[in-house]
Amino acid sequence: MTALRPLMLALAAASCLASPALAASTPALVPWPAAYAPQSGTFKLTAKTPIHVPAGDAEAKAVAQQLRDMLTRAGKPPLKIVEGGAVPAGAIALKRGDHTGEAYDLEISPAGVTIAAVDRKGLFYGAVTVWQLATNGPALPAASIQDAPRYAWRGFMLDSARHMQSVAEIKRLIDAMAAYKLNVLHWHLNDDQGWRLEIKAYPKLTSVGAWRTPKGADAWRPAPAKYEPYGGFYTQDQAREIVAYAAARNIMVVPEIELPGHATAAITAYPELGVTGKVPESGMSDWGVFPNLYNVDDATFAFLETVLDEVVDIFPAPYLHIGGDEAIKNQWQASPKIQAKIKDLGLENEDKLQSWFINRIAAHLATKGRRIVGWDEILEGGAQQSSIIMAWRGVDRAAEAARHGHDTILTAHPQFYMDSRQSLSANEPPGRSELSTLKGLYTFNELAEGMTPEQASHVIGVQANTFTEHQRTAKRVETMVFPRLTAVAELGWTQLARRDWNRYSHGLPVTLGQLDTLGVAHDGVPFEPEATLAPAGNRLSVSLASALGVGEIRYATDGKAPTATSPLYAEPLTLTDGAKLKARTFLNRQPLGGVRDIDVSTRALNTRVSSHLKFCGETVPLRMEADFPREGQRPVFMTGNYRPCWVWESADIAKGATLTARIGQTPFNFQLAGGRRIVDFNKPTTSPYGELVVRKRETSGPTCEGQPLAILPIDAAAAGKAGLSEITAKIPATAGVKDVCMTFNRPNRDMLWALDAVTIEPSR
Ligand code: ACM
Repeated sequence: MTALRPLMLALAAASCLASPALAASTPALVPWPAAYAPQSGTFKLTAKTPIHVPAGDAEAKAVAQQLRDMLTRAGKPPLKIVEGGAVPAGAIALKRGDHTGEAYDLEISPAGVTIAAVDRKGLFYGAVTVWQLATNGPALPAASIQDAPRYAWRGFMLDSARHMQSVAEIKRLIDAMAAYKLNVLHWHLNDDQGWRLEIKAYPKLTSVGAWRTPKGADAWRPAPAKYEPYGGFYTQDQAREIVAYAAARNIMVVPEIELPGHATAAITAYPELGVTGKVPESGMSDWGVFPNLYNVDDATFAFLETVLDEVVDIFPAPYLHIGGDEAIKNQWQASPKIQAKIKDLGLENEDKLQSWFINRIAAHLATKGRRIVGWDEILEGGAQQSSIIMAWRGVDRAAEAARHGHDTILTAHPQFYMDSRQSLSANEPPGRSELSTLKGLYTFNELAEGMTPEQASHVIGVQANTFTEHQRTAKRVETMVFPRLTAVAELGWTQLARRDWNRYSHGLPVTLGQLDTLGVAHDGVPFEPEATLAPAGNRLSVSLASALGVGEIRYATDGKAPTATSPLYAEPLTLTDGAKLKARTFLNRQPLGGVRDIDVSTRALNTRVSSHLKFCGETVPLRMEADFPREGQRPVFMTGNYRPCWVWESADIAKGATLTARIGQTPFNFQLAGGRRIVDFNKPTTSPYGELVVRKRETSGPTCEGQPLAILPIDAAAAGKAGLSEITAKIPATAGVKDVCMTFNRPNRDMLWALDAVTIEPSR
């Protein structure tokens, strides 16, 4: 970290104190710089503005070209680059300055702009700041900026194993990372479900291990079709292309090769690497955690070392991530050969064997000049001091790593997991059920909680992870990742005292506009108005609120989309059944998120979608997507693979009711440590295809028991259909009932029914 001039710090502190009454001139800048001092006036960027670089400074020239390209993409005129000689009036000048590494100084005045840094990295970040300021409006506000990051590791993990992204799509993500000064792309290149990197010595890793046949409701149905194998891999040339593209944008690519677990794809390609010597029974086409571990034969280490030597040759980063997470030891425990090895080595247990395994790999990698990074489980049997611990199971794991003197990177689940939901809205894309809101992430202040200053110095950074089980396209990845990654970028760069949710959220229209110019999708749902209906005599009362509470809601009842001048929502609206209502959030007169078309009807009042029902029991609640239709929008259910059980709290069935359930199927493809076999389910009694059982909820436990209020059989048409079906039944008048629970009985494990929505219309 570069020393900053005290005056600048004082000025920055003063500008920070200016919020919440945010100065009109405060620009949207993410991450917020270490020191920002506004000056008077603006700098006008025109088609005639030159970018000046010193003579013979190839690095500065390359950065100047990047700045010109970034500005052009944002709709600015293509600027001319001038090399050598005196700096022309009105130029953006790049020069070599005082601060090394990623630090830079930026002076903006009406007469010109100067970016000064010793290193290319600093020049690049100065250019990124100029680009961000230029996207704020027609002129750059005059300011003195001195900037340097809080943490050295500001990472983003991309899982290309569960679903792959194309080279072009990864480059787009890299552009967006660079735009917010993130500097590590942790690339999750293999897992149970696929091996994605060409390894010349072991071609079956990709000819076999890169392909799986998805499992799903469609797969067992005669129609519409069987699945094609899913997969693919990156050639070494493509990986090198990504490394170079990232390096040009200050991003180091750290590859992850998982061991000793998450190895199903590799063992499927080469069964001799596994403990049983057989092709694993399942794993590649399921999600979850699998028992398939590498064995500990010398031949397996020879394989891994050859693989890693090729990996090291492609990725120049001084770090290599070796995974180490979720290696459940069932197979090691059951294998006489592994047990004999544990004894021979004089080890206490399988955790120690895992440490021995990883330390052997770490020692090999050390001969190649590489330091290992591993998920926090590698601490369990003890890790070499130089190992960097990626703390994913909680902040306390980072503290534990630091206590043991390890450098550590904070990437705590669920906050830093970009497959967590961004809001509770039914409109969110599929993913894990846990919530990680933009605001919760931005205001996450526990980075070094409970640590001594010496321990805190071991926290070398933060990282957001995106695991892609539920993100089958790159656009879906982007939607889950943004805008949250911009908040993580600020956690990584900006000192705690300078972070300010009011300032950051005020700038969101600009930030989201920047993402638009980069062609990167982002989640608008948490900004959008959600409606809650309530009866109001013979009309309906409609309350509107967005999950994030950022901006103001405007609405229209004439069928048109609301604009920034439409009526401002201030209190619940009372409307007639069937009224047209559209609403949208605006901030600084700019829309945030899309237009919501709100169903104002008694039917909607009496309907709850699955994400608005409660769960009574499910081991792993997920927002799961149906596997139909092949193209286009698919239903997303709040459900699970084990014993999903939904609750409608306070149902009005005192006089009886008509219950209509909209149902569909999701693939049954999840297991935890072989848990697929232990999933139990009840068989249907009213139909060979399954049935929905509705009960009054007797207890608050994880199950739904007691006398059924109704059993709704599922017919052949619904079972054979790639789509949603409705089933309906009368609920008898039931005194004293508050909560109703619902479960499905099914004929076999694979016919996994899910509730999309339930309507309970009380009898009058
Ligand atoms: C992990 O989420 N298993 C690192």
